[in-house]
Amino acid sequence: MNRDSDFPVRKPHATSTLGVAVTSEPGASIHTNDAARAFAVRANLPWVDVREAASEMALVFADSSVSLHARAAPDESAKHGWLRPLVADFAALDISSPQGRRKNQPLARALGRREGSSPLRVLDATAGLGQDSFLIAALGHEVFAVERSPVVAALLREGLAQAAATSPEIVARISLLETDARELTQKSVTPLWDVVYLDPMFPPRGKSAREKKAMRILRRIVGEDLDAAELFAMACTMATKRVVVKRPTHAPPLAPHPVTAHAAKGIRYDVYSVVALRDATLF
Ligand SMILES: C[S@@+](CC[C@H](N)C(=O)[O-])C[C@H]1O[C@@H](n2cnc3c(N)ncnc32)[C@H](O)[C@@H]1O
Repeated sequence: MNRDSDFPVRKPHATSTLGVAVTSEPGASIHTNDAARAFAVRANLPWVDVREAASEMALVFADSSVSLHARAAPDESAKHGWLRPLVADFAALDISSPQGRRKNQPLARALGRREGSSPLRVLDATAGLGQDSFLIAALGHEVFAVERSPVVAALLREGLAQAAATSPEIVARISLLETDARELTQKSVTPLWDVVYLDPMFPPRGKSAREKKAMRILRRIVGEDLDAAELFAMACTMATKRVVVKRPTHAPPLAPHPVTAHAAKGIRYDVYSVVALRDATLF
């Protein structure tokens, strides 16, 4: 895996990190403590000595993990008032069984590689906790994963470091960069990626919606991704072949005229042909 430490440090995205404080686990090594404090300074987040001192959420550095602890909302059940810690973990992803391959088929088809052709270069411009990046890399593609929230990027960086022990060949195909993907357009003269993959936060479905707890925590950290349309326009200039957008089944497409869509459980992948979009001068 390529580390993003060589890239310049950026200002945190305006909607990210709200209510997050940083701390280290009691008894953590000096090295871990230093890393946690350095992260707090870089991400411009408050430091607290113990997790309980965090008002809403705490990013906790331990010697062998980085996890996000969030206080439960009044309508959420939780032990001692804290939800199960959020981590980037790929162990539950089924990447090898026939069933897993079937499940992942819509994603593979949406990306568009045919049997026997060379792997694609995929820009995952909304990496989040890296589940899709990992699946795409497991399909054999090279993934450039971009995440703008420093907190989410820290979780993903740790998750990838841990996964390197069990799935080194998959992790080696993933490069992580902590920045706003929209900034990439200013750096590249020519498109570098065959496919740009987008999975902005799904529109909230009201208070009663049974959203997974992990997604609710993520939403508390990063907000709503209200600039997704702008990101889509950028994606169309950065891809040579297609732009793929993951959407909830019942949500309208992020942009009009996908050439096709591949359905999976509860979601679909809308596929946009860059050539068709350019011809139609839709952006
Ligand atoms: C729904 S999550 C992505 C989940 C991810 N696909 C996964 O499998 O774990 C959306 C993520 O995209 C990030 N994001 C949204 N717009 C971005 C942008 N312009 N640049 C970089 N990251 C962005 C958000 O911070 C958030 O973490």
